[in-house]
Order: sequence, then structure tokens, then C-alpha cells
Amino acid sequence: MHHLLSFLALFFFGLTCRAVTIAGSDDDSCSTLKETFADDFLVGAAIDYGELRDTTSALHQLIRREFSALVCENSMKADHTEPQEGRFNFAGGDAVVDYAQRNGQVVTGHCLVWHSQCPAWMFGPDSTGHPVDRELLIRRMRNHIYGVCSHYRGKVKGWDVVNEAIEGDGSWRKSEYYRILGDEFIPLAFQFAHEADPDAELYYNDYGLDSPRKREAVVRLIRSLKARGLRIDAVGMQSHLSLWTNLDEYERSIEAFAAEGVNVMATELDVSVLPWPGEMPNADISTSFEYQERYNPYRDGLPEDVLAQQGDFYRRLFAIYRRHAAAITRVTFWGVHDGTSWLNNFPIRGRTNYSLLFGRNLLRKPFVEDIIRDAADASKAQK
Ligand code: G3I
Repeated sequence: MHHLLSFLALFFFGLTCRAVTIAGSDDDSCSTLKETFADDFLVGAAIDYGELRDTTSALHQLIRREFSALVCENSMKADHTEPQEGRFNFAGGDAVVDYAQRNGQVVTGHCLVWHSQCPAWMFGPDSTGHPVDRELLIRRMRNHIYGVCSHYRGKVKGWDVVNEAIEGDGSWRKSEYYRILGDEFIPLAFQFAHEADPDAELYYNDYGLDSPRKREAVVRLIRSLKARGLRIDAVGMQSHLSLWTNLDEYERSIEAFAAEGVNVMATELDVSVLPWPGEMPNADISTSFEYQERYNPYRDGLPEDVLAQQGDFYRRLFAIYRRHAAAITRVTFWGVHDGTSWLNNFPIRGRTNYSLLFGRNLLRKPFVEDIIRDAADASKAQK
């Protein structure tokens, strides 16, 4: 009898929460993600122009209801903010900042120095045709960081100052920044960001940080920045995970970074359910039935068992975040719902992935209620 009552209670609770999300009402009758973790960490999402132009009010109500933090998926990257040297464009980033301010959400900046989505002029010759050298690149980096950070001063809580500078084996990525400046470009970037906005938190952000060698390299980096007296507030673990990620290693990395005295954030969380292609033939998979079957198997919907696997994975992940809530300041998803996730187009274009907590219909996946209930149970147990 007890089980039946619990089941009915949960069933109706689930229905109400789902209905609230469908209708996009601001009814507070069930807990939201941001409320559930309000005492632990911010819960964020990456959004961009696309979402802002979307006129479905249900989407906006979902963003407002569930998330306490926002980050631009693309608009604050260097190719957007300084497409030509010295000509800044803040239109996309400003729109997201205005939107977040209206909704009482915290904005973080992504990102100042990254080898990708970096405009070609950064490494090109100067106006007299002189090829870029150390001095010119430092000047350009400083101007870019000063321009962007001072524009967003007081509007963003912190910056991903350097993104993805380390390879999987723990060595420095041989980017153009590295080729010209060596690893010196990293402390310089942190120094310039702090000079431009002394109040902003500063983060090192990277993917694959569950790998022990990358973890060790990040620990070395934190130590070397601190040894130079530079500010570093947190490590951003991008957290592009999959059902096959080793969560024990992931947790060890959180512990290792926290032990260095910095905060930890999951900055780009998603959990892919699709197979990672090994050797891909140089062919468009959309034209090959065999490859569609193998690499894009859930075009018509996610099977219940895979959904359950994803639910278990996310619950274990949030249990880890709760365990380390003293060090974790933000958990941000890389997108709002499955339909607009970058993972539909990476590493293969045009797949149907299901990596986030909200489906294409903007509904919470059923396991979101479990994540919320786990958190409520844990906090009751502590009292
Ligand atoms: O805006 C153009 C559009 O005009 C054009 O029609 C279309 C055709 O492909 O491209 C659009 O630009 C795309 C842009 O996303 C906006 O959708 C770019 O091609 C595409 O390369 C770009 O991808 C972004 C990617 O970074 C680029 O490196 C993804 O949206 C974005 O989610 C992704 O985010 C990165 C983080 O910044 C760092 N960590 C990894 C993460 C995932 O790759």
C-alpha cells in the first residue's frame, strides 16, 4: 500500500512538473533545478542569439525557471567580439547579458584566449606587412583582453581566460599562441584579464579533465600561476561526457583541483548517448544506410533502456557534485535542450543526440525528478 501511494504521489508530482514545463507557466508548485541547488552551486545553460530570437515563450520560461546562470555559446568568443583588429562587436554578448539581467541570472564570459574561433588577424602580419612576432602578439592579446573585459566589467562574474591549452597527454597544445609565445601566453592572459577587470573571477577551462595526465598538467598550471602571484579562482571542467565516461576519474579530478585551493565548475556539461566513431570513411553518413544505423541509431527516439542509462549516469554525476559542493560553484549545461545541442553536429554532422536534461519538446526528462529528489533526500538526511 505504502509503495502504491508513493508511486501515485511521484507519478502526479512528475506529471505536474512536466505540465508546468509544457505550459511554460511560472507556477512554483515543484522544485526547479536552480532552487534545488541554490545552496550548493549555480545551475547554468549556454544560450545564444538563436535562443533569443526564438519566439516560443515556453523556451524562455524554461530558461528563466530552471537556470540561475547563463553563458554565451559563441558570442563572446574572439571571432565574434573582435572580428577585425580593433573593431569590437558586442551585439550578441550584450543581448545575452541584458536578457540574463532581466531574469536575475549570473553571466560568465567564455572565452578570452582560445586557438579555435580566433580571428585570423591575431596571427597575421601587421599593417606594414611585418609578420607577427612575440611583441605584436602580446600587444594584440592585451588589447583584445582589455577591450572585452573592460566592456563587460561589472556584468560578468568571471572569465574563461584560457581555453583548451593542454593536450590529452598533458603536453601543451601546439597552438599559434604556443608557437609564438610558448606557455608564457597563459600567465600573460591571466595577468591582462586581472588588470582589465580586477573584480572578475578568472578560470582555466578545458575538456577531457577526467584523464589523469591532463589532470596532473592542470594541477601544475594552477601551481605555476599561483607561484607567480596570479589570480586563478577556478578550473572549468567542460564536462562533455558520454555514457562511457569513467566517473571515478572525473571525481578524482574535482578532488585534485579543489586540493589546490581553487573552485571547480562544470562549465559545458552534456552526456552523449551516441557511439564515438573510430575511423570514419570520407563519406557523408546521411547517404549511407549502414553508417546511419551504426552511428545515428536513435533518429526516431531514444529507447527506454538508453534513457534509463542516461538517467543513472546523470544521478551519479549530481551525487558527485553534491559531495563536492563546498568546492563546486557552478554546473552549466552546454545548451538548453537536446534539439539545439552542438552534439547533433559533432563529431558527425546531422545526428540525433540526446545529451541534455530537456528533450526537443522542452520537457524535462523523467530522471530530472530523480536528481531533484536525490538532492532533497540528501539534504533531509543531513538535518
Ligand atoms: O553562424 C554560422 C551560420 O551563419 C552558418 O550558416 C553555419 C553553417 O555551418 O555556421 C554557423 O556557425 C557555427 C556556430 O557554431 C554557430 O552555430 C559554426 O559553423 C560552428 O563551428 C560553431 O560551433 C561552435 C563550436 O564551439 C566552434 O568551435 C558550437 O556552436 C559551440 O557549441 C562550440 O562550443 C565549444 C566551446 O566553445 C569550447 N568547448 C567545446 C565546445 C564544443 O565544441
